[in-house]
Amino acid sequence: MTLTTPSAKLNSYRAGPDDRGFFGLYGGRFVAETLMPLILDLERAYEAAKADPGFSAEIAFLNTHYAGRPSPLYHAERLTDHFRAQSKTGGGAKIYLKRDELNHTGSHKINNCIGQILLARRMGKTRIIAETGAGQHGVAVATVCAKYGMGCEIYMGATDIERQSPNVARMMLLGAKLNPVTSGAGTLKDAMNEALRDWVTNVHDTYYIIGTAAGPHPYPAMVRDFQSVIGRETREQMVALEGRIPDTLVACIGGGSNAIGLFHPFLDDKSVAIYGVEAGGHGIDIHNGHAASMTGGTPGVLHGNRTYLLQDADGQIEEGHSISAGLDYPGVGPEHSWLKDSGRVTYVPATDTEALDALKLCTRLEGIIPALEPSHALAYVTKLAPTLPCDNLLVMNLCGRGDKDLFTVAKALGIKI
Ligand SMILES: Cc1ncc(COP(=O)(O)O)c(C=O)c1O
Repeated sequence: MTLTTPSAKLNSYRAGPDDRGFFGLYGGRFVAETLMPLILDLERAYEAAKADPGFSAEIAFLNTHYAGRPSPLYHAERLTDHFRAQSKTGGGAKIYLKRDELNHTGSHKINNCIGQILLARRMGKTRIIAETGAGQHGVAVATVCAKYGMGCEIYMGATDIERQSPNVARMMLLGAKLNPVTSGAGTLKDAMNEALRDWVTNVHDTYYIIGTAAGPHPYPAMVRDFQSVIGRETREQMVALEGRIPDTLVACIGGGSNAIGLFHPFLDDKSVAIYGVEAGGHGIDIHNGHAASMTGGTPGVLHGNRTYLLQDADGQIEEGHSISAGLDYPGVGPEHSWLKDSGRVTYVPATDTEALDALKLCTRLEGIIPALEPSHALAYVTKLAPTLPCDNLLVMNLCGRGDKDLFTVAKALGIKI
């Protein structure tokens, strides 16, 4: 496949991808011949579902009655006061947390799984496979499979199985078969490799629920569409609370699904400043010590799409590192790569230590224990908020709760449990 230049159709930040699945130079579908008919089938099925009001009505019903949406938009008063006390300019943004950690299963991942399981059923598939890193996507997939009585197999890296053990137990309880992956570093990239391999060999009955806004077209756009409920709700809730839309949005970036879900409905609102926070690990200058593919990577092809990657001069994928299993991915969804190059979104790293400090801060000031992933977003908010004026309305996506991370956090902080 040849690379395209930005399409004339992309005259709005919200118009992509183009007909071949490209966001400017990023995206596409770089897959094995055997997968191509399936991917085209999936695209047709998704286009038909999108045009069917019954499909959106079913999603809306499940979002409300099963997942518990809308999630609250919560004014974090003590965090706001804390940042104002730290401001050298007498400012300090007004902090709102979009509480997607309150969803059924504990994160934003359920938003995508509801959409994709309904699509799988429409396509007559009987077996579901998925990859997972932090286990939140695996739990969400196992949950919807239990609800609809579908066979479910989850690929998870051996390293992640160890550090996210509460989610491993939940998946097994829900009836999923867990396939440990020991290749590479035993993390998310390796799990996704194995899931793609499974899909190629079981093309007829199997549907692959990818958990982030990455992979071959149509996944990045489809996952984004299912996650955009976060941004649509935020818009409505902020207008109801403050009479206007937010000024600043901040979200963490693994593959990029919670972030694009919050950002997408605001991309054409020029007044809104948008920040994506990647995993800075031990530090962005440390080789193999972080997972900040946009801050520290270059464009290449992985998992069916062209995007920013951590890779060496020969194009070999490097092992990322993050204390957070959900951000420990050496790539990123292609729409983010395009938003980076176009300058619409600013991408910054936050280190493991900064994320741990932010987790402690949120826990002590708000009584909310965030997952390690959104703690990276909060780590950047601690730097940004004091520099903004008091009337700046800042929304951070609190996309997961911290239960799964208790062992990792306790170990890092020297707490004996
Ligand atoms: C709570 C939570 N937040 C964020 C992420 C990162 O994924 P994404 O960038 O697709 O939102 C994960 C991934 O597992 C997660 O569990």
